[in-house]
Amino acid sequence: MKKITSVLLGLVMLGTVMAGCNSSSGGSGDTPKVGVAIYKFDDTFMTGVRNAIEKNAKGIASVDIVDSQNSQPTQNDKIDLFLTKKMKALIVNPVDRTAAGVIIDKAKAKDTPVVFLNREPLPEDMKKWDKVYYVGAKAEESGTMSGQIIADYWKAHPEADKNGDGVLQYVMLKGEPGHQDAELRTQYSIQALEDAGIKVEKLAEDTAMWDRVKGQEKMAAFLAAHGDKIEAVFANNDDMALGAIEALKAAGYFNGDKFIPVVGVDATAPAIQALEQGTLLGTVLNDAENQGKASIKIASLLAQGKEVNKDSVGYEITENQYVWVPYQKVTKDNAANFK
Ligand code: GAL
Ligand code: CA
Repeated sequence: MKKITSVLLGLVMLGTVMAGCNSSSGGSGDTPKVGVAIYKFDDTFMTGVRNAIEKNAKGIASVDIVDSQNSQPTQNDKIDLFLTKKMKALIVNPVDRTAAGVIIDKAKAKDTPVVFLNREPLPEDMKKWDKVYYVGAKAEESGTMSGQIIADYWKAHPEADKNGDGVLQYVMLKGEPGHQDAELRTQYSIQALEDAGIKVEKLAEDTAMWDRVKGQEKMAAFLAAHGDKIEAVFANNDDMALGAIEALKAAGYFNGDKFIPVVGVDATAPAIQALEQGTLLGTVLNDAENQGKASIKIASLLAQGKEVNKDSVGYEITENQYVWVPYQKVTKDNAANFK
């Protein structure tokens, strides 16, 4: 009996030692290595996606996540390194989405599948290889939703038409020019107002590059030029909207009954807080959790040569290569559900 116990104990210990070995070598045993290149770490929304990738990788992939520091040449170097290190699949959030073609060529040459994320490659690049996927959200949808939030407010609040001319005078803070989310949110938000029968006049539009500080600076410049003629503020993301709110506060807004509707996109934690405080009127959930989760699941399957389909991934696959994660409108009324 004693002998059997010690043999068993020995086996258990051996098992522990082996498990220890595996996890210290980076992958836990048979989880494949996946290289992840993010366009830049210093981006609020992408930080959420990055955390979701890391969290959902547990048990299905061993991830190496790198910062491309907003430079395409840097990202290309990191990708070369991933390929040399024989990563089994890549997740790439391109700095410049038109660079996807070159990335696909390199990865294909090494038979390393790629999942693109957040910055959509051109359709002709996606067609270069069937082991290429894109996980993202339909930018049009977020534009429409943010426009609808402003339209609803405008209809419910006749006093929002400050100069009483029946036209909504607005300013637009754009994300990075050329980014599908910047171009389409800008276009579709205004389209939603027009579709709701509202006449609009653009007083100013400028890019603040998704950035909070730049959002504040640009909004201060809009206020200097147009002051109280501005009746609504559109921002392509929450960071810029929150920057704009800072500039508006400095100009006396959100104090007493001096209000102006501001909308963003992403539903980041500070944006939810601003909704509850009543400064931000609305935002749109850009679902970082599901975008991260879908990306790592697909990458893990591809890395193991397994089939990618709705059952294996848990998300609908469109045109064999796309996963579209839906957006959701967020206002003060439902903000608590998005914390
Ligand atoms: C958008 C997001 C922005 C920014 C950008 C980066 O989807 O709304 O806040 O993160 O992606 O590509
Ligand atoms: Ca007006």
